[in-house]
Amino acid sequence: MQKKLDTYLKTRGKRVAHSLSSLVERRGKAPIPFLAPMPASMRKSMKYSLMAGGKRLRPILVMAAAECRGLAGSKVIKTACAMEMIHTYSLIHDDLPAMDDDDLRRGKATSHKVFGEAVAILAGDGLLTMAFELAAENAADLNLSGKSTSELIRVIAAGSGARGMVGGQAADLEAEGKRSKASARKSLEYIHTHKTAALITASLEAGAVLAKAPVSQRKALREYGHAIGLAFQIVDDILDRVGDKKKLGKKGSDLENDKCTFPRLYGIEGSRALARRQTAKAHRCLAPFKDKAQPLHWLADYVLERDR
Ligand code: IPE
Ligand code: IPE
Ligand code: MG
Ligand code: MG
Ligand code: MG
Repeated sequence: MQKKLDTYLKTRGKRVAHSLSSLVERRGKAPIPFLAPMPASMRKSMKYSLMAGGKRLRPILVMAAAECRGLAGSKVIKTACAMEMIHTYSLIHDDLPAMDDDDLRRGKATSHKVFGEAVAILAGDGLLTMAFELAAENAADLNLSGKSTSELIRVIAAGSGARGMVGGQAADLEAEGKRSKASARKSLEYIHTHKTAALITASLEAGAVLAKAPVSQRKALREYGHAIGLAFQIVDDILDRVGDKKKLGKKGSDLENDKCTFPRLYGIEGSRALARRQTAKAHRCLAPFKDKAQPLHWLADYVLERDR
């Protein structure tokens, strides 16, 4: 199983990296009608963060969700890349001095350290908006109906925005330094399900919309996404405390920033048990897909067991 998962992640990750690079490069250089090519500062900074590595979990989930419905992953690659762009933008902004103030990401200096804060903010803005350009193109390539196209864009926007990832990031900052355990417990699940699970869920749903999944299957994938997303962030919090910084490619700043995290409230072992419970729930959500969901089963275990 481990070997199959490794090969799966490696081949999928490579395909995503290759597509990301060529998509940005093409848009960076070739003028499309009425639009000039993008400034070199944008092309360089966007590519710098996109190509720094990363597990590519969200794009792999877009492809795996489409494949559950029998639609090849290659058919949804633009949306897969779109979700990685939104995720990468969220990391660039998350590392800014005004937020977590980190200087290492994916094993390299953070965007603002290399390009300055203004370009880092704009690189994030450029990635976020390019993502919607790509998702819209993907819908057109697949001849999706107008209704499904709007649904695709809505799902991605809602997961990314103030009711999704951005909202979670805002709550994460508001909870810094708050010492009351009762209020922390209440906000913790909100923070994690929004700052992290929302984008993971949107990736799965985007794949499902592109593959014309019925409402019941979308609901199952949403619930799966919520569970692995929460597990993913619990594990992120654990690794921030006890992980190998070199493998992680980031230094871990939760203690320094006095963040509201699972280990702070439940300890390392308590947090691990909660993450395991979410993973078990995730497996159960996949029942309607039978064998087609095998990669999603692997990915749920990977989220729990990962060391980077
Ligand atoms: C880091 O995400 C930020 C969180 C939401 C926890 P990842 O751990 O997926 O980061 P990369 O993409 O692999 O660098
Ligand atoms: C960030 O959570 C989640 C995002 C939306 C970027 P963290 O702040 O814990 O992510 P890392 O640990 O810096 O990757
Ligand atoms: Mg943060
Ligand atoms: Mg951070
Ligand atoms: Mg973290």
